[in-house]
Amino acid sequence: MSERPYIVGNWKMHGSRAMLSEARAIDRAAERLMKVEVAIAPPFTLIHATRKEAALIGVGAQDCHAAEGGAHTGDISAAMLKDSGAGFVIVGHSERRADHGETDADVKAKAEAALAVGLSVIVCVGETEAERDAGKAAEVVSKQLEGSLPETEQAAEKVTVAYEPVWAIGTGRTPTLEDIGAMHQAIRLRLRGIYGEAADGVRILYGGSVKADNAAEILSIPEVGGALVGGASLTAESFVGIMTAAAERGEG
Ligand code: PGA
Repeated sequence: MSERPYIVGNWKMHGSRAMLSEARAIDRAAERLMKVEVAIAPPFTLIHATRKEAALIGVGAQDCHAAEGGAHTGDISAAMLKDSGAGFVIVGHSERRADHGETDADVKAKAEAALAVGLSVIVCVGETEAERDAGKAAEVVSKQLEGSLPETEQAAEKVTVAYEPVWAIGTGRTPTLEDIGAMHQAIRLRLRGIYGEAADGVRILYGGSVKADNAAEILSIPEVGGALVGGASLTAESFVGIMTAAAERGEG
């Protein structure tokens, strides 16, 4: 596994061409923070332009369709993403699971479609607040992993898992460091069951209200391989704060 922390910005449905200046500033900062692997996932409309503007960072998408092509008005295939310059795609984000009714099987099909064209994938999992309160967080996440992870050969090399408790996304609330560590360990165990030894190479990111001021402590948890960042990735100023915290951990 790459030892470099992986910090990924998910711009969600934010961003116009004016925001390319933020991408450029993030890219410039990445040049001096080489101990961190940095990527952003802008909306579809900005992937190509972001790829052209940013030399160092990864650029990816937030979703794809599982089919290679066809009569799917408004959808985007993995091959189209690749053609526009994307190197990876996020699949199974809780907002897609909630807003578009995506099931684990849908997420898995999307992940496999992405791998088939050579994209890397970030597969998101995470429990709701009610599920956590009911003591079911680990069970829910384990089931999501089982149903959502791609099973093609070499999948483990191209897959990153993002653990994002739904109740921590955009709320300013985060689990305790102990809870994050315990869940990441449980995910690692589950990954071993699915991918065998190759699972040890899969990075597990934490996502949900990661900011410059809590990134250092979250990234200090040994099982946390990086962060998936929403709101705080929208300006270079806040995102570079997280990148810097990650670089300091890389040095530790
Ligand atoms: P947030 O979003 O950092 O704004 O909580 C994280 C995500 O949804 O990936």
